[in-house]
Amino acid sequence: MEVVAVASEDLDDEDRRSLRALWDRAFGDRFSDDDADHAYGGVHVLARDGGRLVGHASAVPRLIRFGDQPWRTVGYVEAVATDPDRQGEGIGRQVMGMLRDEISSRWPAALLSTGRARGFYELLGWDRWRGLSYTRTAEGVLPDGEHGGLMVLRLDRSVVPDLAVPVTCEDRPGDAW
Ligand SMILES: CC(C)(COP(=O)(O)OP(=O)(O)OC[C@H]1O[C@@H](n2cnc3c(N)ncnc32)[C@H](O)[C@@H]1OP(=O)(O)O)[C@@H](O)C(=O)NCCC(=O)NCCS
Repeated sequence: MEVVAVASEDLDDEDRRSLRALWDRAFGDRFSDDDADHAYGGVHVLARDGGRLVGHASAVPRLIRFGDQPWRTVGYVEAVATDPDRQGEGIGRQVMGMLRDEISSRWPAALLSTGRARGFYELLGWDRWRGLSYTRTAEGVLPDGEHGGLMVLRLDRSVVPDLAVPVTCEDRPGDAW
């Protein structure tokens, strides 16, 4: 199996079609066009076996506010998926391991939002967010209740010393987090 890191701008149309097919297989109807858009604009890790795409994760830059600190850019992890036929073989762990290296060379921390995979990320060193979550919209900063699924990877612990403070993202089409 080959695991590689690729910038979004270096993915061609065929790569993008293979990615969407992988996400649709792994997430079923939980995966929207907005979710696909959110996955681009940063760095991807792709796992391929015999020419077939079997695993993916990406990280994109996002402006986030921790507590009352100034807004800062951190990595935001999107579209983590292993082909359903290949889950449980360690592909997700390998992909996330390489993505961690890509994140650490760019940002001091990363966030993600997950429903069902909290245990997977905890095994990989991610922490559950304990504070409340907010979205900055045109109408102001609104509570969004996302915090139950928010997780953080702290590469530089001094950047996010307290996981119980409020965390705020900027609004975007589709799910804000
Ligand atoms: C979550 C997902 C990416 C894991 O990929 P994977 O290739 O099966 O994971 P791995 O085989 O590398 O598993 C690594 C470890 O995490 C554990 N794990 C995997 N999925 C888990 C889950 N949902 N909850 C808790 N632990 C999980 C494995 O048991 C394994 O533990 P071990 O090393 O102690 O044996 C994959 O199940 C998937 O694509 N799910 C559907 C899409 C999805 O929900 N993505 C996450 C969205 S945020």
